[in-house]
Order: sequence, then C-alpha cells, then structure tokens
Amino acid sequence: MALKFEILGRFNRARAAKLTLPHYLCQTPLFMPVGTQGTIKGLTKNQLEEIGCQIILGNTYHLALRPTSELIDELGGLHKFMNWTRALLTDSGGFQMVSLLHLADITEKGVTFQSPVDGKPMLLTPEESIEIQNRIGADIIMALDDVVRTTITGPRIEEAMYRTLRWIDRCIAAHKRPLEQNLFGIVQGGLDPVLRDICVKGLVERNLPGYAIGGLSGGEDKDSFWRVVAQCTAALPEDKPRYVMGVGYPLDIVVCSALGADMYDCVYPTRTARFGTALVPEGVLKLKHQAMANDTRPIDPTCECMVCKNYTRAYIHCLVTKDAMGSQLLSYHNLYHMMKLSRDLHLSIIEGRFPGFVCKFLQKMFPKGD
Ligand code: GUN
Ligand code: ZN
Repeated sequence: MALKFEILGRFNRARAAKLTLPHYLCQTPLFMPVGTQGTIKGLTKNQLEEIGCQIILGNTYHLALRPTSELIDELGGLHKFMNWTRALLTDSGGFQMVSLLHLADITEKGVTFQSPVDGKPMLLTPEESIEIQNRIGADIIMALDDVVRTTITGPRIEEAMYRTLRWIDRCIAAHKRPLEQNLFGIVQGGLDPVLRDICVKGLVERNLPGYAIGGLSGGEDKDSFWRVVAQCTAALPEDKPRYVMGVGYPLDIVVCSALGADMYDCVYPTRTARFGTALVPEGVLKLKHQAMANDTRPIDPTCECMVCKNYTRAYIHCLVTKDAMGSQLLSYHNLYHMMKLSRDLHLSIIEGRFPGFVCKFLQKMFPKGD
C-alpha cells in the first residue's frame, strides 16, 4: 500500500483525515479538479498551488490518446510532464468512453470504442487500463469498471456490478507498481441496495488501499443518491479513504462528507466557469446577466481569492464569452471556492463545530428555508 490514512477528527459519521500519498500530504475531505489533457483549463500550476489544490484528476482515456502514455512514461511520468509536484489521480478510462462517446460497447474482454483519432475500433481491457495508468504514474489509479447509468433498470445493472467485481481481480493482477501507486476499487450496483452490498463486500475482501463509489451523479434523484452513498460509506472500512466519483456540487459535497465520504471530483466548477457562472455561498452568480454590467462589487465580497480582491463583476461581465481571461478568472474563483469548502469541512470537523458549519452553509444557500 502506498498511502497512509489517519483520521484526525470525527463528527458522527463525518471524518477529517490526513491522507499521505507518495507525492503529497493531503487533508480530507478534499475536492479534486479535473484536468483532462494534463492541465486544468486556464490555470497555471502556480495558481493551482496558490488556491490550495492538493490533488488533480487526469483521465487515462484522454492522456492515452494524446500525448500517449508511452510518451509520458518516456518523459518521466505525468508529474514531471505537467510539472506538478503534488498528488495526481487517474480515472481508468471506461467511464469517459461510455459517457463521451456513447458508441462504446462493453463485453467481458473490456470496453470497445471507436478511436476519435482514426475511427478504428479499439479495445481497452482492465489489464491495459492499469498498464497505461502505471506508465502515467499517478498516486492513485482507478480500476476499470463497467458503468451504467443509474436511471436504467433491469439485469444490465446486475451484470455490470458482477463484471466490475471480476475485472477488479484482473486489475489487481495487472498492477505492477503497488508500492508506488494505490489502486482503488469502484463500487457499482446502481440504486439497488442488494447489489451495492455484494459489490462493497467483494471489494473489501480484496483489501484495497481505498474505495470509490461509482455510477452516481447520472441523473438519479437526490434521495436515491444520498441513500446509496450512506449505505456504501456505512459498509466500507473506517480506516481507508472513500471517494465519491463525479461529485460535484458544493451541497452534495457537504452532505456526502456528513455521510462519511472523503474525496470528490467534478468538472462542474471549471465547466460552469466557462459558461459564465460563479460559485458563491448563496448558490450561483451568472456573470452574463445584464445586471452585472455596472456592478462594481467583487464576485463574492466574502471571498479572499485573487480574483475577488482585484476585479469587479462589471469587468468580468465584460470579458466573459469575449476573452479567455473571463473564464480563466471565473475558474480560478470557482476552484478557490471548492478548496475553501474542503478546508472549512476539514477544520470544522477537527474543531468539533461541523453541525454549526453545515447549518450556516445551508442558511446561506437556502435563506428562505426551502
Ligand atoms: N466518474 C464518475 N462516475 C464514475 C464511475 O462510476 N466510474 C468511473 N470509472 N469514473 C467515474
Ligand atoms: Zn473569489
């Protein structure tokens, strides 16, 4: 195992921990920005450090196509390639192919998809996904899983869950660097508590360094989403990190942390920035709105980030959609907002004031109590 997970404080099911990875000592709960091509769009490595980013997520699928994992390996791994000295996590690739291409076909062998480069059919097997992730060299690598949308029902959910369990053994057998990289298993099983339970038990038997809860944030209602997270966190080992994949919204992160989850990733803060939306304690602020044109306040007067200290809403309104700087400034603020949320969660749990923090968070977001 190439990590250490020490719980520093708890409040009921919520935990604050120190997660020591080969490249960085992280504090949980933590949020991982998604850097598709080995970069967080529009932000430099220095800016990411400045806002307190501890770990970045890279996608195996994108990196394997360009610049290719062989080249990354040859150039000394992804850390060196992107000049990032803190932690990295790579997702296994299957989910990206299924969600991006829709053309992907999943069989027992692996995920078949049409190459976006030359249109030829390509097959990503569990062995190949791990081999690629070994070459990329992230601190945490993810097992190849069979992901289906939670909104579908029937035998396909069961098939995907059992296949994910069969594939974890192929991933474990293919993993060549267990002392340098941590392989996380992914719990699947849709919204079915029986299937989720079988998957959690199966993965826990494999004694992996950490576990992810997958197959969520695909359009299911919030009640089902929180119920699955609550069930999985209750059944996963106390002394291992728990990562809810593809989540997300600040509210979801607060709720999942209360349920005992530790790690999150989502494109939302940076994607929504490119559409002109800022994350604020009250929810969101749409910088494109005409009302922003002569608003001389910062995006969030309570935010201490570089953008809020230097620029007005009027200025960002003027840039947004016209100049790349607009989305860069918004991405900076939005990621700062997520990092601040992670730190606030961590500290409030350690200092025994987690319920107070959650109350204040909810009051700001839902002032009318709805
Ligand atoms: N990203 C968001 N959800 C998932 C999932 O279920 N599996 C994988 N591999 N990545 C994800
Ligand atoms: Zn700000």
